[in-house]
Amino acid sequence: MIEQLFRRKTIEALTSNENGLKKTLSARDLTILGVGAIIGAGIFVLTGIAAAKYAGPAIVLSFVLAGIACALAALCYSELAAMIPVSGSAYSYAYATMGELMAWVIGWDLILEYALASSTVAIGWSGYLNSFLDNIGLHLPHYLTTAYLADPAQGFINLPAVIIILLLTGLLILGIRQSAIFNAVMVFIKLAVIVVFITVGLGNIDTANWSDFTPFGFGGVLTGAGVIFFAYIGFDAVSTAAQEAINPEQDVPKGIIGSLLICTVLYILVAGILTGVVSYTELNVAAPIALAIDHMGLNWLSPIVKLGAITGLTSVMLVLLMGQSRIFYSMAQDRLLPGVFANIHPHYQTPHWSTLIVGSAVALLAGFMPIEKLGELVSIGTLFAFVLVCGGVIVLRKTHPDMPRHFRCPAVPVLPLAGIVVCLALMAGLPLDTWIRLLVWLLIGFLIYFGYGKQHSLLRSE
Ligand code: ALA
Repeated sequence: MIEQLFRRKTIEALTSNENGLKKTLSARDLTILGVGAIIGAGIFVLTGIAAAKYAGPAIVLSFVLAGIACALAALCYSELAAMIPVSGSAYSYAYATMGELMAWVIGWDLILEYALASSTVAIGWSGYLNSFLDNIGLHLPHYLTTAYLADPAQGFINLPAVIIILLLTGLLILGIRQSAIFNAVMVFIKLAVIVVFITVGLGNIDTANWSDFTPFGFGGVLTGAGVIFFAYIGFDAVSTAAQEAINPEQDVPKGIIGSLLICTVLYILVAGILTGVVSYTELNVAAPIALAIDHMGLNWLSPIVKLGAITGLTSVMLVLLMGQSRIFYSMAQDRLLPGVFANIHPHYQTPHWSTLIVGSAVALLAGFMPIEKLGELVSIGTLFAFVLVCGGVIVLRKTHPDMPRHFRCPAVPVLPLAGIVVCLALMAGLPLDTWIRLLVWLLIGFLIYFGYGKQHSLLRSE
């Protein structure tokens, strides 16, 4: 049966350019796609809060720890993505290796990572936009920038968050190539902002700010790692575009590992400089990088940094939204979801209905939900997916030792096992109610699978 699933996934990959998704992305495009998805609300918003509340200057160590968890998962993702280069990321790997039910569980779980993270980032985006507009003297009314559930007394809808999601949805329907070009421009701008910050920041460090390096002990470093883990989410989005890569076996691993490496180095530098320029006690703010720039006396640079952050967050939403629609596309091809999600537009060659449905749902969440509730669910959902992907590598090495692997994760099973342990440790640091929400979410998933997917599945009809 596994052979049957695997063969079907491989055939899908080989035929996709004839009657399905367009194959246009190179290794460089994929790396840029990864950086596009990674650098966003995590570094621009959460770093300051995590340093102030949990880790102090040792937030640098939190970044190293979360980076290690992601690097281990990235190696596992790379092995599977190069073996099974189809749309759908971890969902498709589970489908080919562990069967339909497990695949459904991962696919359902990935909604937490992709769709919910897009909503979370949209809310962060709206916050930066408002702060920038305030700077130039334009003030939007509170009830149009705050969700009802975030502030029942005065909030109504987070309109900027809704509008940006709908605009990006439209762009994604027009085409992956156009989206990739737009993404590249945005990635260039946000990288420029980060490099400028690092360059000017290096000359303004006061080492006295680092003197109390671990004010909250190792526990704080661990909690900090759980919080800023959000900053790394997105490197795996590269694998959702595997079916649209020209040469996926070689290029998807390069895109995943390359983008993660670039971002890890930048994050560690930014976190070190941020806590070196400003005392961690002052960093509990929504725009910590802009605050550090103000501290250096470069006030004129601060709106530019905000614009860079707005741009940066835009590309994160773009890639995550694309990832979600591609995962639904794969699930619908396997008939675990209604066929409408697998429809490809005859002219644009994109899964237009899937993109539109995902975009509308994400826009609703962004418009009416508070940011904190979404953020923690994103982290736990993603960590859970990482655990399953690391497990998948071990399973597949046992069940299919001779299958061609264009990229091999080193030191199997030690390395994937280490990945599982580190991810579980980070999950353990998250609050109990987040765990309960994850379980409820998975339960709803089971109900849908047994109520719909199992009856309609391609596997069953075969
Ligand atoms: N890593 C992405 C961000 O920080 C999700 O916005």
